[in-house]
This record gives sequence, C-alpha cells and structure tokens, in this order.
Amino acid sequence: MKADDRRSESEDTLAPGGYDAELRDHTRVLLRACDIQPDDHVVDIGCGAGQTTREAARAARTGSAYGVDISAPAIARARDLARVASLENLTFDHADAQVHRFPQGYFDLAISRFGTMFFDDPIAAFANIGRALRPAGRLVMVVWQSGERNEWDVAIRRVLAGSDRALTATTGPDPFALADPSTVRRVLDAAGFVDITFADVDEPVHYGPDVDTALDWVRGFSCTGEISRRLDPDAAARATQRLRRELSAHLTDDGVRFDSRAWLVTARRDGDHRESTGHADRP
Ligand SMILES: C[S@@+](CC[C@H](N)C(=O)[O-])C[C@H]1O[C@@H](n2cnc3c(N)ncnc32)[C@H](O)[C@@H]1O
Repeated sequence: MKADDRRSESEDTLAPGGYDAELRDHTRVLLRACDIQPDDHVVDIGCGAGQTTREAARAARTGSAYGVDISAPAIARARDLARVASLENLTFDHADAQVHRFPQGYFDLAISRFGTMFFDDPIAAFANIGRALRPAGRLVMVVWQSGERNEWDVAIRRVLAGSDRALTATTGPDPFALADPSTVRRVLDAAGFVDITFADVDEPVHYGPDVDTALDWVRGFSCTGEISRRLDPDAAARATQRLRRELSAHLTDDGVRFDSRAWLVTARRDGDHRESTGHADRP
C-alpha cells in the first residue's frame, strides 16, 4: 500500500457525536506527544474501537500498530473499521492488558487514550506493559484528572441528582483512578518506568453538533444511566429536562462542549530493567 492511499481519520465516517468526536482535541494532543516514527511498533492499550490504533498504523508506515481491549464488541468494531480503512500493518486482540502475554521487548511505544484507568492491579498491569516495550521504549497516555476538575462530570452529576446530593455517587469502574500524579508516579516507578512526566491537558470534550445529539450521547454514559435508574419515572423525566437545559447552556458555534482536564503522562521503560525474554512472537 502506498502511504497516500491511507485516508486520514478525519475522512472516516464517524457519526456526529460519539467517542472519537468527543475526544478529538485529546487525540491531537496524544498523537503529537507520541511522535510516531515510520518504523515504530506501537501497542495501544484499551484501544476501544481503535481510532488511535489506526492513526498509529498510518504514522508507523513500515512498522506496525497493535490494539488490545478487554471488550470483545470493541475489538470486533476495531477490526471492521481497520478493514474499511485498508490498513494492513494493524492487528487487534481481545485481551486483558494486565495479564496478556505480549511479545517481550518488542514495542517502541505503548499509547493509550483513556484506556489505562481500569486495571484491578495497576502496578502488575503497567509492569506487564513495560515488559512488552524494548528497553527505553516509551509510554504515552492520557488519563482524566479528578472528577471535580472536570466540568462535564460535575455538571452531569449535579443536574441529574438535583437536590439529592447522595445520588451523585456512582459505583463501577472509576475513570478517575489515575487522577493523582503522585499515585501514578509511584505505580509507574514500581512497574519499572523512569522519566515520568505529567502535562496538564486543558481541552474541551465535544458532545455533538446540537443539543439532541449531545443528549443522546450523554444519556449513554454509565454514570447517567446509574443515577437515572435510581429515580422514579417522574423524577427521571425532570432530570432529563435539567440535563437538556444544561447541554443547551453549553451549545457554542462549535457544538455542545464542556471543559475538561486530563494528564498527558509520559514515561520510559527503564533500560536497565532486566526481564525474561519469554514469548517473543510478534502480535
Ligand atoms: C474509555 S474507553 C477508551 C477506549 C479507547 N482508548 C478510545 O479512546 O476510544 C476505555 C477502554 O479500556 C478498556 N479496558 C478496560 N480495562 C481493560 C483491560 N484490563 N485491558 C484492556 N482494555 C481494558 C475498555 O474495554 C474500554 O474500551
């Protein structure tokens, strides 16, 4: 395939709204920091439907990109989209990145767009990812700062819960699990990473070009569903009205957007870190 046969992601048929559209600014920041070279081998952790993996494959023209995700439907979607994009240096596996038997010392770069906050044992998971990197290979990921620093999280919980503040607490996977830099530094250090840096990413999230699209999108969030299910039907209808008003208040010329804060975290596998070179097959 010639390089110019590869369509850029902006030409892909992404629906208005949706996760890729929501995170378009974070994606730009992440990919710029990744600085992927043509012969790099890149692994995308918690790749979801694979937009960032496809972009990595486009940049690593003579290298490769490999996405893993614990969700089978996400990987099926990622494979479909890769076929549509005619990218041949791109593979995906349905796998738990915490324990997956990655090829050892193979990848130049591990990347993630909000796919690394959900491990049961973060030190074990990042150590496993580190072993997949060559010595001095890089980790580049974006993770959310705390919920309180994310206008979208504060606003959605507030308007849904109304006056009943107890309703704002939700259970389930914590998207803010890597919000605290000192915790992340300790985890990555214990996992064998060095040169750990944090850059403040102050970019908006985009929920859609209009309020109806944004409402559909936000109602699909797990926290939105959880809070709404605790309400009786009348209260749930009122909460939806409040949510609609909040989204309308955030409608701009650039669609419905909320402030958000993330960390761009970079680190390097310690070159002196000696690990078994067990399973060295390519993905
Ligand atoms: C917020 S989504 C981000 C998806 C993707 N990175 C993107 O930006 O489109 C988080 C992803 O991490 C995946 N995930 C969670 N725990 C995982 C694990 N232990 N191993 C691999 N993927 C995981 C989820 O299935 C989900 O697709």
